[in-house]
Amino acid sequence: MNTEIIKIDENNIDKDADLALQRAGRILREGGLVAFPTETVYGLGGDAANAESSRKIYAAKGRPSDNPLIVHIYRTEDLYELTEELPETALRLAKAFWPGPLTMIIKKSPFIPLQTTGGLETVAVRMPSNKIAAKLIEYAGGFVAAPSANASGRPSPTVAKYCIEDLDGKVDMIIDGGAVGIGLESTIVDLTVDTPMILRPGYITEDMLRDVLGEIDVDKTIIDSSSKEKPKAPGMKYRHYAPKGDLTIVEGKPEDVVEYINGQTAAAREKGLRTGVIASHETVAMYKADSIMDAGSKEDEETVARQLFMILREFDDLGTDVIYSESFDTSGIGQAIMNRLLKAAGQHIIRV
Ligand code: TXA
Ligand code: MG
Repeated sequence: MNTEIIKIDENNIDKDADLALQRAGRILREGGLVAFPTETVYGLGGDAANAESSRKIYAAKGRPSDNPLIVHIYRTEDLYELTEELPETALRLAKAFWPGPLTMIIKKSPFIPLQTTGGLETVAVRMPSNKIAAKLIEYAGGFVAAPSANASGRPSPTVAKYCIEDLDGKVDMIIDGGAVGIGLESTIVDLTVDTPMILRPGYITEDMLRDVLGEIDVDKTIIDSSSKEKPKAPGMKYRHYAPKGDLTIVEGKPEDVVEYINGQTAAAREKGLRTGVIASHETVAMYKADSIMDAGSKEDEETVARQLFMILREFDDLGTDVIYSESFDTSGIGQAIMNRLLKAAGQHIIRV
């Protein structure tokens, strides 16, 4: 398949860009696939109401078909099409956080086929704030199923270059809207249980949700690397985000972490392996390795969140064999950062 790649500036959707988005919307309505930017990561869109489109999404990503897709909408009232039982909490959350990086799980109506929800009777829904995404969803008819636009298992794309790397030739169109703002996927909250529960942490934090809902639970498997329980979001059980190199997280006092990692990278380099380190801005100058990535200051989690997936992909570009990462604080957005980092490392964390 020939994949058309177009560029659109989110802050300047002129006539030409609007026409291109109308065309992209038509592709989706006709059952095709379009990758597009959102504020979190790039998504791979198909018509959420079309079972065949969902099947194509799974095929293009190489994704197991029991892993449900998120349905993207562009206005809150469309929630009523997706469910016959809209919980009052959904409207409160929509008012507080939409459009934005929050996904809610609700009971699904027959409008959404089981192929889109991986066979579940519930549906995940989110309203992205990215203007390109919003227009595209509107022109597509209002309901776009979109997982992250990466090949299954790889880090989610935060720039179009990595969508192209994973999906060129497998989708009809890729919209390059530049670098995303957030860099980690949306927070997922399950509203089908008595006390709403976070299934995947993200930019909308536990505290922010508690402020609106009063009570909130967190799926224990999110950042507990030793938990034997099965995660409640089907997708969270898969190894994910993994770079090709072997990634280990090292936790401890900063000076101990630096000493340990430098010892490990020196030994690996002696064996002829390419080494990499993910460091915080505060300690980046203290490491010795082939590639040392500054993820941002420990005080600035938003920057770390935005850079993490990009850094993991860069190590692949560089052919890095072994990677060591500092660990990050798990408060606020840190919960999402450590959740993704632990998954990328296959839960491999060393305490020094
Ligand atoms: O920020 C995001 O959410 C991005 C952008 C493109 O919107 N999308 C995204 O989709 O991250 P994806 O498919 O990569 O991740 C969706 C996650 C998976 O872990 C999946 O198992 C979970 O959402 N999920 C979807 N529907 C669900 C449901 N009905 N019940 C429980 N988990 C669900
Ligand atoms: Mg994904």
